[in-house]
Formats: sequence, C-alpha cells, structure tokens
Amino acid sequence: MFFNKKSPSKSTEVDLTRVPKHIAIIMDGNGRWAKSKGLPRVAGHQQGMEVVKKITIAASDLNVKVLTLYAFSTENWKRPAKEVGFLMKLPTRFFDTFVPDLIKNNVKVSVMGYIDQLPLETQKAVEQAVEQTKNNTGMILNFALNYGGRAEIVTGMQNLAQQIQTGALQPEQIDEQRISDVLMTASLNSYRDPELLIRTSGEQRISNFLLWQLAYSEMVFLDQHWPDLDAEDLKQAIVIYQNRDRRFGGIKEDKK
Ligand code: FPP
Repeated sequence: MFFNKKSPSKSTEVDLTRVPKHIAIIMDGNGRWAKSKGLPRVAGHQQGMEVVKKITIAASDLNVKVLTLYAFSTENWKRPAKEVGFLMKLPTRFFDTFVPDLIKNNVKVSVMGYIDQLPLETQKAVEQAVEQTKNNTGMILNFALNYGGRAEIVTGMQNLAQQIQTGALQPEQIDEQRISDVLMTASLNSYRDPELLIRTSGEQRISNFLLWQLAYSEMVFLDQHWPDLDAEDLKQAIVIYQNRDRRFGGIKEDKK
C-alpha cells in the first residue's frame, strides 16, 4: 500500500501495546532530496545520517526491540568512487558523534553484512561502537552494511553444505529453523524476522534486502525522501501496520 500523509488511515494513534518488535527500513531518496535542493548527492547522505539519529531515538522511545537499517548494499559499490568513499566514512562520523546518545538511551549497536570487505577504518568504527554499546539492554540498532539478501542466502547454504560434508548434518534435517540459523540475523534470536518493512521515497521494491526474513512482513511505502523523515512519519507507518490484517496464510477467526 502506498501511503501519503494526506490520506489518513483508519486509526491515527500508535497503539503502544502492538508496536512491531522488529522494524526494517530501506532508507531511500538521499540523492533525490539533495538534487531537489540543488545540492550534491553526498549532502543527502549527510542529512540522511542525521535522520538515522532521530529515527533511532524515536524507535527506541516506542519500545521497538530491533531497528535494522539498510545503510549500504552489496550492489552500492557500483556507485561513483567519490560517493562510495563518502558513504564509507559515514559510520565513523555517525558513531563519533552519537555513541554517547546511544549509551544514554541503552541502545546496542549490531551490524550484519560482509564487514571484512569494508575499508579498515570503517570496520574499526563499527567494531568500536559494537564494543562500546555491548552491555546495553535496550533496542538493537542493526546496520546492514555491505549486505545483500541473495549473497546472505548463498553464504548460509555454503555453511549448511559444509555441515553435511563433515557429517554434522543430514540433508533431511534441513528445515526452516536451520536455514534461519545460518543467516546474518541469527543473533537476533526471536526478533529475526521484521514485522514491518518501511521504504521511503516512493519506490515499491525490496532491493535484495532480507529476502528470507521478509516472508510475512507488512510493507509500508512512504513517499517522503529519507532525509525528510521524522518521528511522526515513523509513527504513521506503525499506525498503517497496526491497521493491517495479518493472517500469515490463514483466515480470520470470524470468517471460519
Ligand atoms: C539510498 O538513497 C541511500 C543509501 C544508499 C545510503 C543510505 C545511507 C544513509 C541514510 C546514511 C547512513 C548512515 C550511517 C550511520 C551509516 P539514494 O542515494 O539511492 O537516493 P536516490 O535513489 O534518490 O538516488
């Protein structure tokens, strides 16, 4: 469903007892936001980073358990070197200025993706933030960095094949749980699969994000560009989610 601020949904207030535990976001539209203001694309990413801070605090205040943000995909390397270089420096800038707030808000940083392929300085910034926040017990802020859903599944299948090769696993033992266990969301335990996926900037596709985990997620597409997003937009996306009828392939009780 395409959501526009001007088209009100059934209920307008967030029901705090039914906030999705895991929200995943495709933060799209940084480039278009910058272009609309006559600015270079990287200005959109810089503003996008500021919005990550606001949305993180807003989600934590709403008692979200996991917020997964698609910050850099395995396909984003195709962008001009200057833009990729800027994006690679963002984690350092972000954590340099934001770790005290993360600690104050009890937020724990986590990261998923092919981190060892990132520049060493980026790896260091991320690892340090993970270390500095490891004792926090509140929301997990999970960055997908150099992440791709298909690559994740390939790596997971290689892992299972190796287990079979060593005799630790029989092919017939492979089930959904075992596949879920070899994916990059495994450490999120009961929060592995997002209930809600949000994508900004009007595009309606999932772009190789959490292909397995999104099987039953509700998808909300907002027309605002990511750098324009605020806490109210996050709440409105949650309200749309709460007005949906989630059936997981079954039927509603009163329709039996
Ligand atoms: C998509 O917009 C956005 C990205 C590829 C990068 C997202 C990164 C941020 C929002 C900042 C991340 C912050 C941290 C802390 C790592 P786009 O450039 O594809 O926009 P366009 O479709 O309008 O060109």
